[in-house]
Amino acid sequence: MKSSTVLGLCLAATITLLSACSKQTAPAGGSTAATAAPDKIKIGFLVKQPEEPWFQYEWKGADKAAAQYGFELIKQGVQDGEKVMAMIDNLAVAGAQGFVICTPDVRLGPAIMARAKQHNLKVVLVDDQFIKDGKFMTEVPYVGMSATRIGTKQGETLAAEMKKRGWTPADTAVCAITFEELDTARERTDSSIAALEKAGMPADRIFKGPQKSTDIPGSFDAANVLLTQHPEVKHWLILGMNDSAVLGAVRAVEARGFTADTAVGVGINGTDCIDELRKAKPTPFFGSMLASAPGEGFQSAEMLYKWIKDGTQPPLDTRSEGTLITRENFEQVLKKEGIID
Ligand code: GLA
Repeated sequence: MKSSTVLGLCLAATITLLSACSKQTAPAGGSTAATAAPDKIKIGFLVKQPEEPWFQYEWKGADKAAAQYGFELIKQGVQDGEKVMAMIDNLAVAGAQGFVICTPDVRLGPAIMARAKQHNLKVVLVDDQFIKDGKFMTEVPYVGMSATRIGTKQGETLAAEMKKRGWTPADTAVCAITFEELDTARERTDSSIAALEKAGMPADRIFKGPQKSTDIPGSFDAANVLLTQHPEVKHWLILGMNDSAVLGAVRAVEARGFTADTAVGVGINGTDCIDELRKAKPTPFFGSMLASAPGEGFQSAEMLYKWIKDGTQPPLDTRSEGTLITRENFEQVLKKEGIID
């Protein structure tokens, strides 16, 4: 038996046991079955990369909704399709009525919806929208970033920083870390590139480095290929679909001697760069477009809860905007957003 199957079975057993225990201890004071309080609503919150701070902050927001409304939240990392399917079955066994998901692969959409339907579970999507036959499954409620607007702001910020430093296209180039198989990622980087071109950056000074994995090592490798191909570049502008994409490229330019004086990177998320912005000495990581991870976690969980409890159909498309954070303002903005204390 595969280890992931064993893990799935153990999880199912634990969840069943936990829910059995809570049923036994709940109705205190000799109440009968007829008068016992109904079981709490249970909601799953499944994310593709639980190690990424963005998703931990989403969970934090969902926890807040659970405390406010009094539902039970079951949080789980689902790094591949097998884990997603096992977890949907586990949620059904545990008596959940639905789940919020950021899928590890958007093409799993139809299979996930079929499995959810089989168990009568409601589904709300967060961050990454399902795809069927090359088209968004717009019938499934979705909460995520306004990828185009946030990407545009990233590109505009980079163009403004280039201008401020007096760099010219002759000695400057763009390192665009891309992950085009994910639509929200492609929309962000395409919009960022379009904004840079609009600001006067020639298309032939913009180089794309596709990342194989959406983490720091994945973007470090992608950037290294570009840096090896273009040793003549004196100043780099760095963009990517999230903070990790930009952080990997920042580490790669630093390894070749670039500093905050010769390279500028702007991330997206604002949650995965806090340690970077706190470093005593500025690095080429200039700032990030902050969107509210706790806000998206809260909203998606709240929508699902109200859908289950009152039958309120969630809006099909909810988008959040981005605000630039830099070393100057990040502590203040992140405090206000409830991301740091
Ligand atoms: C994708 C990315 C995350 C984050 C979310 C925001 O899922 O992988 O890092 O940017 O989008 O919606």
